[in-house]
Order: sequence, then structure tokens, then C-alpha cells
Amino acid sequence: MAIDYAERIPNNVELSTNRSLQRALEQWQPAFLSWWKEMGPSDFNAADVYLRTAISVDTKGWANYGYVRMPDYRWGIFLADPEQDRRAGFGDDFGKPVWQQVPGEYRSTLRRLIVTQGDTEPASVEQQRMLGHTAPSLYDLRNLFQVNVEEGRHLWAMVYLLHAYFGRDGREEAEELLARHSGDADNPRILGTFNEPISDWLSFFMFTFFTDRDGKFQLKSFAESSFDPLARTCRFMLTEEAHHMFVGDTGISRVTKRTLEVIREIGTDEPEAVRRAGAIDLPTIQRYLNFWYSSSLDLFGSEASSNAAAYFAQGIKGRPDEKKYADHVERDSTYTLDVPDGDGGVRSDSVPMRNAMNEVVRASYTEDCLRGLARWNKLIEASGHAFRFTLPSTRFRRGIGNWAGVPTDPSGRPISQAEYDARIASWLPSDADRAFVHSVMQRVAEPGKMAAWIAPPDKGIKDRPVDYEYVRLA
Ligand SMILES: [Fe+2]
Ligand SMILES: [Fe+2]
Repeated sequence: MAIDYAERIPNNVELSTNRSLQRALEQWQPAFLSWWKEMGPSDFNAADVYLRTAISVDTKGWANYGYVRMPDYRWGIFLADPEQDRRAGFGDDFGKPVWQQVPGEYRSTLRRLIVTQGDTEPASVEQQRMLGHTAPSLYDLRNLFQVNVEEGRHLWAMVYLLHAYFGRDGREEAEELLARHSGDADNPRILGTFNEPISDWLSFFMFTFFTDRDGKFQLKSFAESSFDPLARTCRFMLTEEAHHMFVGDTGISRVTKRTLEVIREIGTDEPEAVRRAGAIDLPTIQRYLNFWYSSSLDLFGSEASSNAAAYFAQGIKGRPDEKKYADHVERDSTYTLDVPDGDGGVRSDSVPMRNAMNEVVRASYTEDCLRGLARWNKLIEASGHAFRFTLPSTRFRRGIGNWAGVPTDPSGRPISQAEYDARIASWLPSDADRAFVHSVMQRVAEPGKMAAWIAPPDKGIKDRPVDYEYVRLA
């Protein structure tokens, strides 16, 4: 379906045929714009940024590239094309027609899930709002802003669903999405990770790799939903989301590559020496990784969850790539979890598969993360070093689920609270690590030049060279 750009709100949902919905969204639009100006990227609203804008929802050639000032970005409502005669892909109603309207009995559940997803989108823009001032290159600055405007569009996607399908409560929720703010003591964002400050670019790359990837898996679960408008919205969001993870994946690769170059130049991998030479030592990168991965794991929820079981049974939220599973109903199947035995050890616990859905999704996520680590480790291996990045265990530093508050080391081995307290500082970024990382975050704004702690990308954006002027600063 073509996107109508003649409208004030670009869309492919024939918004102009529903006057009251159109009016309601047109009323929300100025509130969104003032939120963007107040809470979005600080100080860069007058810059011309080489951005992509969605022009269709075809997987091929869906975007247009050109210079845009961020407040002029055409945020709109784009749903993937409907699938003819789509049927529920899982749950008790497997094979029955999907819903084009919200079933009354699932209304509050769906609204809560959409609000929770929607809340993360503007949250990340708020978390990242100061990063422009320390961008290591114009290429990176452009990528940051691309991620930011698309997270803004993802908010639009969720707000559309709230307005179109949830009446007055939906409109109120849409207002609340602009009223909560990341890290706000009185009115914070809903999920913990989205209240963590992202004040340096190493954290930004970790966030786009680990936390946006949680987003990818949530969207993939919703892309299976029997609530068809939600599924279609999320399918198109995934197209945009791929770039966010690319930013994280290649960002960490480039930091690693630069560190390896410096190690070669100075002839030692001793962390202090690497730091004196202006690069970020590998153990520090590992500690950042430990922090963001473990924080992102909690976003999937408890290992055994009656809510997750209900969402699956009802067809509200499925498993990513549901088609790859043999059984789409999972009425009698079980899943084995490792749980603390309460005595400093681990025991196995068998739970109904439906109750373990969060864990199933988390396991797919972990596998996806490992592919990134394998790429970074290849770089290290190729340069002849023994160091390897590792993912901590999913038991490590958990705040939610069976392992919440259970002290373990990064390998997942239960340890005493005293040992945990004594060693945690060596597993996570210390104040000194953060101060060092902050100290190298110097802004570089000359086309093609990179800050000393990061290697240039292999190629530019959309066939442009790396030294293209991706952002024309005002
Ligand atoms: Fe998003
Ligand atoms: Fe994202």
C-alpha cells in the first residue's frame, strides 16, 4: 500500500477516511513535536542530516535518503501489507481467523503491552539526547540521529494503535507516553533499562546491540500476534530496527578493531598502556558488555510466568519465528529450567512450556547476541591475542525472575553474597572506567575523521563514501 505523503501525517492506513481518528492524531502531533524539541537530540535540530525516510513498506527500496532537519522528519504510520486470510499462528485458537479489532476480554492486556512497548521508544531518544555533543565522527552522528528519528516513528506506530483501537483510554495513554521521562524521579519510564543513562558512545553501541535487540525480539513476538494491526505494525518496525542493531554491532567491532591496532602499535595489551594510547582496553569493553547484557535480560521477564502463558494461549504474543516450531499449541509440553536450590546450588525444574515462553524468547535472544560476539572475537583471534569476549550467564546480576538477587559470578556459579560484593566491581564498569571512557569522548566533526578510540567503518551509508558530510551542522 502506498504511503500518502500529501497528508499532514504520512500514512498507509487511509487515515483521511477516518476523520475523528485523523483529528485525534493531528492533535497529538504538536505534543509529539514539542516533546522532540525538548527531550530529543540536544542542540542539533537545525542541522541537515542525511537520513532515510520510509516511502513504502516493500522490503526492497522502502526508504528514501536525503538531507532533512530532524524536526521536519516525516514521522508517520506505516503498517506492513495485510496478509490475505491470515490465521492465528499459535495458541488455543491456532488456525482461526486473526482479529481486526481488539477482543473485549483482551483489551486491557493488549493496551498494557502496547503501552509498555511504546514507552521504550521515546525513552531511548531521551537516554541518548546528549550524545551528539561527543560523536566520534559525522558518520556516527548521522547514525545516532537515524536511530533517534526511527524510535520516534516507533512511538507513532504504538500511538496509532492506541488511538485507533482503544478509544479514550488509548488517547490518555498516548499523552502519558510523552509525560513519563527516562530517569525522572517522579515519573520514570516503565522498564528499568530505559532509565539507565547513556552518556558515552561505548554505552550507546552496547545499548543498540543488546537493548535494541531485546526490542527486535519483542517485535518479533508481536509480529506473530493474532491482533493483526499490531502484527502488521511490528513487521514494518522490524525493517527499521535492523539498522539499530547494525549500529551497535559495527560500533563495537570498530572500537575493538581500533584497540587491537593500538595494542599492535604499542606492543602491549596492558590496559593502562592501552588507555594512555587513547584506546579503550578490551577488559573495559567486556565490563560494559556485562552491564548492558545483564540489564537487557530482565526485559524478557520471569523465566516462569503465568502472564506469558496466558499471552501465548490467547494468541496475543507468540514466539519469534513461530513457524520454526513444530507444535504451535504447546498444551502439554514442558520446559526445563535451572533454578536456585535455595542452598547455594542449582536444580532443574520442569515447567509447562507455555509458562516458559519468556525463557524461550530469551534463549533465542542470547543465541543472536552470541553471533555478534563471535564476529568481534574473530577480529581478536586474527590479531593473535588470547582475549575473548564472553556473554555472562543469564543468571548473572538478574533483577527479575528465579535468579533475581541470587549472587552468582559471570559464569552463573552461585557464590556467597560477600564474594559477590567483593568482586562485582571487577565485573561491571567502575567509576574509574566510566571516567576514562568519558575522557576519550571528544567530538570529531570533520568529514571522514574519526575519534582516536574507534576505527572508521568499512563503508558509508547508502553508497556514500565514509568521508561524506553526513551532517551539515548549522
Ligand atoms: Fe524501536
Ligand atoms: Fe531500535
